[in-house]
Amino acid sequence: MPQPRPEVMEFLLSRRSRPAKTLGPGGPDRSALEQMLAAAARSPDHGKLEPWRFIVIEGASREQAQALAADRAQALELDESTAAKTVAAFGQGEVIVAVISSPKPSEKVPLWEQHLSAGAVCLALLNAALASGWGANWLTGKMAYDPVFIMDFLRCTDGEAVAGFIHIGTETVMPQDRPRPNLSAITTWA
Ligand SMILES: Cc1cc2nc3c(=O)[nH]c(=O)nc-3n(C[C@H](O)[C@H](O)[C@H](O)COP(=O)(O)O)c2cc1C
Repeated sequence: MPQPRPEVMEFLLSRRSRPAKTLGPGGPDRSALEQMLAAAARSPDHGKLEPWRFIVIEGASREQAQALAADRAQALELDESTAAKTVAAFGQGEVIVAVISSPKPSEKVPLWEQHLSAGAVCLALLNAALASGWGANWLTGKMAYDPVFIMDFLRCTDGEAVAGFIHIGTETVMPQDRPRPNLSAITTWA
């Protein structure tokens, strides 16, 4: 017999992100964050390759990220508003967890599946933060795709990529829900 967990379904059916720019100061302490990371690391992972890793960006590291992002925005000649947004993002949320997709050599598990697993980790971390009562948002942005930023700041190696920056902080506003997909338009019952 199925053993329903209605409170979990209620969470999944109503969960929504809190925009990073609305997150206020205050966030999970180290042990609470470790619990969220443990939840995220329970994500499905074909072949048990663990093709992901976390970088916790907090305190002074956020300022270092902002300084490098400012340099990179200039080097990349980003327009003023994109540059400002790119830099500001690293100040949003008390803590930012970079989820790095870190594929492992495998004859059995395609690269695509390893990246998908990293995406699953992002959602699991986002949901763990929301379920713990924090505001949270999954962003990427220009720096996620800048080879210099990801090598110099995140110490990414060849083949690694940023699956997401999960911003976690104190919720200040509960956003209106956004329109959700029309299930009948995206579902085929074969
Ligand atoms: C891989 C990925 C990257 C994203 N990057 C950004 C981003 O850089 N900027 C942005 O405004 N939203 C970005 N989003 C969307 C936000 O996460 C957005 O808040 C989200 O779609 C809201 O979803 P929810 O309310 O269902 O949680 C991204 C989403 C994903 C899956």
